[in-house]
Amino acid sequence: MCGIIGYSGTANAVPKMMKGLSLLEYRGYDSVGLAAQVGDEVKLVKCKGRIGVLEEKLRDAPVEGSSCAIGHTRWATHGAPSDVNAHPHRVGGVTLVHNGIIENYKALAGALEAQGVVFASQTDTEVAAALIDACYRRTGDPVAAIRQATAHMRGAYAFGILFDGQKGRIYAVRRGSPLILAKGQDGYYIASDITALLPFTREYHAMDEGEIVCLSGQTATCYDEKGDTFTPVFQKTTLTPEAAQKGGYPHFMLKEIYEQPRAAAGCVSPRVNAAGLPDFSADGVDAAFLSGVRQVHIVACGSAVHAGYLGARFFEDIAGIPASVYIASEYRYHPPLSGEKTLVLVISQSGETADTLAALRYAKEKGLPTLAVVNAVETTIAREADRRVYTYAGPEIAVATTKGYCTQVAALWALAAAAGLANGHADADTARAVVKGLVEDAPAAMKTMLAQRDTFAAAAKGLADHEHVFYIGRGADYALAMEAALKLKEISYVHCEAYAAGELKHGTISLIEPGTPVLVLATDPALFEKTESNLREVRSRGAYVILLCREDAAVTADAADRVIRLPQTSPAATLFAALVAVQCIAYETAVFLGCDVDRPRNLAKSVTVE
Ligand code: AGP
Repeated sequence: MCGIIGYSGTANAVPKMMKGLSLLEYRGYDSVGLAAQVGDEVKLVKCKGRIGVLEEKLRDAPVEGSSCAIGHTRWATHGAPSDVNAHPHRVGGVTLVHNGIIENYKALAGALEAQGVVFASQTDTEVAAALIDACYRRTGDPVAAIRQATAHMRGAYAFGILFDGQKGRIYAVRRGSPLILAKGQDGYYIASDITALLPFTREYHAMDEGEIVCLSGQTATCYDEKGDTFTPVFQKTTLTPEAAQKGGYPHFMLKEIYEQPRAAAGCVSPRVNAAGLPDFSADGVDAAFLSGVRQVHIVACGSAVHAGYLGARFFEDIAGIPASVYIASEYRYHPPLSGEKTLVLVISQSGETADTLAALRYAKEKGLPTLAVVNAVETTIAREADRRVYTYAGPEIAVATTKGYCTQVAALWALAAAAGLANGHADADTARAVVKGLVEDAPAAMKTMLAQRDTFAAAAKGLADHEHVFYIGRGADYALAMEAALKLKEISYVHCEAYAAGELKHGTISLIEPGTPVLVLATDPALFEKTESNLREVRSRGAYVILLCREDAAVTADAADRVIRLPQTSPAATLFAALVAVQCIAYETAVFLGCDVDRPRNLAKSVTVE
């Protein structure tokens, strides 16, 4: 996600911007910039790349004598990382920085272009600046302009804004993306989070949805959503810079687990049309393209291929399209039979995984249409695929993926629904139900599970001192078991294997001995009885059984050592709730064992070697 900082006061603003931007680097970024009021001018300096590039530009052309400035680190969503797409953006008399996604930016851009606006960048942010400028020219009042412009915006935003003619003033507004107002000895600040401001102040006010603030020198005026002024309550943070970068969480992984409800909704909601149906046409994956797909080959690595196993089920169940899954490092050595109507769908959080990139290039050499589901924007895999769907999870810092995988599953589910709608295999009600499940039910269910995280800490203690742990399940539960097993072993170093519940008795059950932990995923009512019999097979041999099942599952008291009940609002609610549970079990086990949760031994966040 992007990072915002702003300052208006009596001190030199640019050094504060540079210090604050360096403290926002942890959020992940690909470009950086600042805008400073110098006299009646606004000096704007921005670039693709790291902060060092900006420092170099400022050394070559210093910006001095400013006490009012805004700064930004950009994690690209719309538009490649480039100098022109970097923030701040300036249109007319408005200069602004933005964190979030304006979902309806294309429609807004069209209306503005019809009024003669010419855009220099491919960003939704420049469109927002142009709209605010148009309103400012009409009203002459920054607060009125902000209120009018944001009333037309759909999506998430936090803006820091400089208006020409408003010397020494910064205006800020937020909806969907966090923003704080802070009070220092020598002026006022805004920032995406307190981390950027710790060298200057610890007193901050977390802005509410729709709140607008105007900071100037020694004063700050706050307007609530209705436009009435109010006196903000400032609180004092006790966070250290390192703790603050994790949003107060002990590890990035836990922070990213907690970001999943918002990430899942943020991934799918930009692909929901006014009728509440899945629509990926803005991604270049329209109904005409999807209706021509006769077969899907899903190719990926690690957690991404585990998402692919679920994705294959979605495409077959919802769209009636035969789908197969291939581990990327195997794909090109025994390429599957495929026709020109075969879509090769690659999945990659980082967009740079060498095995997956090699498979993508192989598919393209064979003339097969390719689609990439990727989190990191404008990365090699995203660029080289014929089409791409970004998961908009935001930067994932922990090596073990959580929100990256979560949003891959959400994107695949919505894509399958769009494909089913396109080829007529799914009706509108089915497709609409999938969207509702992903945008509403799943986030709510994940929050329900996160509220009971201490349950998972207790469960984790039963796993920590065992050499072998098993996850078993049938159908989609087996696919989820693969991810659950990887999560546990990659961060806690406890060996864990995922097994098709019905397959265990064909050999591997010989490894089950008294106390062996077996976690049973039994979320599908149609398969519950069969899976329960597999549970009894291991329990009768002394296994320590943790059962994850729906709230309404008929489970006798002695069926398992521990039962974790999952919301059943919809299939998506149950699946994503189970996902959060297994992620938290892995996390708590690793913490209990004192492992380096965010940087597990031997692992890299992006495996760029084959
Ligand atoms: C996930 O926790 C692992 N770190 C790893 O399996 C990862 O999913 C795999 O390397 C694929 O990475 P990608 O999604 O960036 O391509």
